[in-house]
Amino acid sequence: MATLAGKVCVINGAASAIGQAVAGRFAREGAVVIGVDKVEHSVGEHVVRADLTDESEVQRMYEEVVRRYRRLDVIYNNMGLMDRGDHSALDTSLDTWRLVHDANLTSIFLACKHGIPHLRNTEPAGGSVINAASFLAAVGSATAPMAYASAKAAVVQLTRDLGVHLARSGVRVNAVLFGPIETPAQRAVFDRDPGALDKRLVHWPTGRFGTLEEAAGAIAFLAGDDAGFITGAALPLDGGITEAFTVPE
Ligand SMILES: NC(=O)c1ccc[n+]([C@@H]2O[C@H](COP(=O)([O-])OP(=O)(O)OC[C@H]3O[C@@H](n4cnc5c(N)ncnc54)[C@H](O)[C@@H]3O)[C@@H](O)[C@H]2O)c1
Repeated sequence: MATLAGKVCVINGAASAIGQAVAGRFAREGAVVIGVDKVEHSVGEHVVRADLTDESEVQRMYEEVVRRYRRLDVIYNNMGLMDRGDHSALDTSLDTWRLVHDANLTSIFLACKHGIPHLRNTEPAGGSVINAASFLAAVGSATAPMAYASAKAAVVQLTRDLGVHLARSGVRVNAVLFGPIETPAQRAVFDRDPGALDKRLVHWPTGRFGTLEEAAGAIAFLAGDDAGFITGAALPLDGGITEAFTVPE
């Protein structure tokens, strides 16, 4: 199904496993994909290298995209960062706090600030913004990386406010609360400490990681017109973690 046919889609943080999977799915649905990341990569029909926490780089990137393609329809803000120094707020340095908030929250503020005007200027005006958050934004956790979880919670609120603020402009803004998705980085964390996976699995109703295909499919749904009446929402993509009290044996 070519549900994104002809849509010009920017994927911010495209070099990751999830970013690549979304880029592949968008392309298969007929989209023109612009892949943006701070690291060298080759994701997308048009490859851009930019630091998404740098306001002038973000602004310039969107101007370049619109100059080249004459429109912008979808922005998927996938970028994010976890830091090993991010633990309880009582044990986290201010440098780590700022680094994590910049990468997870400020980057999305900048992407919205400089990208959404181009969605509104596209004919017909409107489009879809999808922001990557985490189930950690919706639950309390004794082991939370608190800078990361609070940044993702702020992403959810920014999404809610922008979704409502822009509701009559045709621009939809939604977030995704990712649960554990099967990425090499995620798997490596548990490979280093197999006991940690057993402790986590007792909270996962499905008892498994989500797949990259499942992640990309949900993002593609929110990007496309089938989700035309959904805005300001935070879609749980977590196998039921945020809804569960006890889980099946
Ligand atoms: N993988 C999971 O299970 C999981 C769970 C919860 C939330 N998430 C969220 O989903 C998103 C994707 O997850 P992932 O595991 O693929 O993450 P990842 O860390 O592999 O990818 C993030 C990408 O963002 C890029 N990036 C980071 N800071 C940047 C910056 N300043 N400028 C430009 N690019 C930058 C990185 O280079 C990387 O390619 C992230 O926002 C993450 O927090 C993932």
